[in-house]
Amino acid sequence: MRKKIVAGNWKMNLTLPEGRTLVDGILSGLPTLNESRQVVIAPPYTHLTQTGEQLDEYEHIYLGAQNCASETSGAYTGEVSAAMLQSAGVQYVIIGHSERREYFNEDDALLARKVEQALATDMQVIFCCGESLEIRDANAQNEYVEKQLKSALFHLGDLLMKRIVIAYEPIWAIGTGRTASTAQAQDMHEHIRRVVANQYTPLLADEMTILYGGSCKPSNAAELFACPDVDGGLIGGASLKAEDFLGIVNAMMGL
Ligand code: PGA
Repeated sequence: MRKKIVAGNWKMNLTLPEGRTLVDGILSGLPTLNESRQVVIAPPYTHLTQTGEQLDEYEHIYLGAQNCASETSGAYTGEVSAAMLQSAGVQYVIIGHSERREYFNEDDALLARKVEQALATDMQVIFCCGESLEIRDANAQNEYVEKQLKSALFHLGDLLMKRIVIAYEPIWAIGTGRTASTAQAQDMHEHIRRVVANQYTPLLADEMTILYGGSCKPSNAAELFACPDVDGGLIGGASLKAEDFLGIVNAMMGL
């Protein structure tokens, strides 16, 4: 069964009290989720315990982290390991966000190690890919995204690959207000599913959740999510306001 997911990536925003208020607001308006319609909230590390406690009573809404270390443990000042995240109740970890790739020099080899660390626990991975405007303008986005997936994921066996959610986030659409058209999103998602089917099996690809990210908001979410290969969204800016985030969740629910 292919799951639909709306995941909120708060990035480096909100203090603890602000985070608490936001989660309270989301929970107070949350529609009834189920096995095939799920929500993930990925606050900063400092908020994980608080947010986890708030989500505790609720079903099908999960705690996410925005990153994890590439090493298991040891002298890596400032890093947080996958096992630590899991012990804090984290169920999903975002790996390979374009901001991590760009500002923290995370390359494919490092991301492959992070993916392995996360999958060595029970957590699932939301693996981000996506091209820059330059690559899109050169019409080289399909090859570029394919290479990102191959380099960081395709060493995984079928069982581990089943625990990956892919998020396609064209860099030119992140935080810019410029959303990919439904045709651009659908074309890339279809391409990703085909590439996964070729490497693994058509069934595995068919069951994989592929999210869209990049200026997704209540006003465009329903249209994007109606694309046959778009299974929800990874939401940045619009995840910071309960009303906006709930609008996107409702679009996933078909409300
Ligand atoms: P945005 O960010 O929704 O603010 O464009 C999406 C993301 O970076 O995950």
